[in-house]
Amino acid sequence: MPQSVITNDDLSQIVDTNDEWISSRTGIKERRIAREETLASLGSEAAKNALENANMKPEDIDLIIVATMSGDHSLPNAAGEIQKEIKAVNAVCFDLNAACTGFVFALNTAQAYIKAELAKNVLVIGADVVSKQIDWNDRSTCVLFGDGAGAAVVTADTTGIMGIAAYSDGAKGDVLTCKLRPINNSLRKDPVDVDYIKMEGQEVFKFAVKKVPESILAVLEQAKVGIEEVDLFVLHQANSRILQSVSKRLQVPMEKIPMNLDRFGNTSAASVPILLDELNRKGAIKPKDKIILSGFGGGLTWGSTLIEW
Ligand code: ACO
Repeated sequence: MPQSVITNDDLSQIVDTNDEWISSRTGIKERRIAREETLASLGSEAAKNALENANMKPEDIDLIIVATMSGDHSLPNAAGEIQKEIKAVNAVCFDLNAACTGFVFALNTAQAYIKAELAKNVLVIGADVVSKQIDWNDRSTCVLFGDGAGAAVVTADTTGIMGIAAYSDGAKGDVLTCKLRPINNSLRKDPVDVDYIKMEGQEVFKFAVKKVPESILAVLEQAKVGIEEVDLFVLHQANSRILQSVSKRLQVPMEKIPMNLDRFGNTSAASVPILLDELNRKGAIKPKDKIILSGFGGGLTWGSTLIEW
């Protein structure tokens, strides 16, 4: 995580908002915002921690996938920059953009590479510096997001992946947008401004509370696992009210749906691996535990993956 902590009170100095509004509508109390850090530095730090945790060396890694929508550059890709920093000299490197579903889709891609025997040890990183894509004058979005990175090592010995349900609906992509580099060449008459994240909040809310439970039920059906057999639901940390609604719809107690969004806000592709790492380090996950990882966000994209720890 970046060092700088920005509380809701800090934000109320920047835009017309307050702690009561943000806390009651989202559950977020504070977030980390990159000041000196870059996407590549955060991703590299997460990668080093994951390698240490997995007891592996950088040269053991043969594929690095970085799920991100906010790389430091268009070129080179973030995965290549992280490869350089951690010296994973044997890795193939590419980025994958599926917004807040990115880590889950990247994990699925790692599984596919391993199953096809194209890779043995994959470093999967979810990282976003959404703070640079936000209009800090827009109170409807700037209070929601934070920056961060998380990583996991997936190996051919046991990927742990028991089932995958992944979806996209490009036709509804307009409810959450950020135009990165508009067409602005010499053939164009009028220059175009760089854009920031725009979101139809209520549409995203309705989409999430419907599609997240559906994708969880779909992957459980596919894997022939009952919902009561799942030990933890590690869901994208967008908003506590979305997670509470999922809990109600699936009749799963909130104790099985951990949250850290109060401290980090919505870190986009980083939220699932950051929470997974926190749970792992505090001993909340036991070997053989069944865990649902679920992402949802821009694209629109969404999906759930069932893993055995
Ligand atoms: N502080 C104070 N007031 C605010 C703020 C703020 N930060 N933001 C909006 N308001 C005001 C609005 O101007 C509006 O005022 P008005 O009634 O005078 O017009 C009022 O609060 C209500 O605004 P709504 O947008 O209707 O508020 P809503 O109850 O829908 O809550 C929220 C907004 C929290 C964004 C909600 O829609 C939501 O959670 N949506 C899901 C968003 C999300 O999670 N996105 C990320 C998921 S996808 C991804 O991760 C990329």
